[in-house]
Amino acid sequence: MAVVEPSAAARGSSPRTQAAADGEGTAVPRHVAVVMDGNGRWARKRMMPRFFGHKAGVDTLVRTVDTFAARGVEYLTVFAFSSENWKRPSEEVSGLMSLVLVAVAKYLSKLAGDGVRIRIIGDRSQVSDKLRRAWEDAESRTAHNTRITLSVAFNYGGRWDVVQACRQALAQRLAPEQLDEAWLGRHMALAFAPDPDLFIRTGGEMRISNFLLWQAAYAELFFTDCLWPDFGAAEIDAALATYARRDRRFGAIKP
Ligand code: FPP
Repeated sequence: MAVVEPSAAARGSSPRTQAAADGEGTAVPRHVAVVMDGNGRWARKRMMPRFFGHKAGVDTLVRTVDTFAARGVEYLTVFAFSSENWKRPSEEVSGLMSLVLVAVAKYLSKLAGDGVRIRIIGDRSQVSDKLRRAWEDAESRTAHNTRITLSVAFNYGGRWDVVQACRQALAQRLAPEQLDEAWLGRHMALAFAPDPDLFIRTGGEMRISNFLLWQAAYAELFFTDCLWPDFGAAEIDAALATYARRDRRFGAIKP
């Protein structure tokens, strides 16, 4: 596959570099974004409340981070709570908020020990102080980790991200000619990461749902019917194999 990515050659001996060096059809995406959809249906199939599906979804996420890291993916960004999810029934919203606290308590030490760096993207102004402190704790305790960066999008929306970056430009009284794509990119929530190469959505829907609208401009899209709690190594390998067969041109034409 054609991967137009100047930094790829200089990446040392990571599994990703090894895979890329192996030739056609083996390149590994540096950054994978995932819409973790299907928790509710997974729970309903088991005659259980939706919360049961979200809880299983957290366990799947923790396993998934490890599998992606083992395949050489450096950044994994997941959509955990969208700007629009506030429209869900209040008990589901509060269940998701408390699930985060439970998940941090249950898994932070493991993720920290596994070399995972955790970052949170999204609008923190609307979440409780307790939740904000849990995020800060997760970020600071894993800040030195380098194996894989897990970015959890929480109270995040792609449109929110563009607006908050524009607001920074206005607050800094930037002149119109100073505002360009590079400036905005540096002020968006994922400024620390390369753009996603592969965008996965589980659960059978084929939409982007306001996730990483700016950053996913050239991401390869992969949709699967698999419900998020069932997403495992076999589905990850299928997505990575599909990605490896794609011909990425970034708007250029083949020589
Ligand atoms: C979509 O499934 C899933 C969500 C809105 C929440 C995803 C959250 C998790 C997997 C938990 C992550 C938590 C942490 C701490 C990172 P859905 O409810 O829309 O499912 P459905 O389409 O089957 O109804």
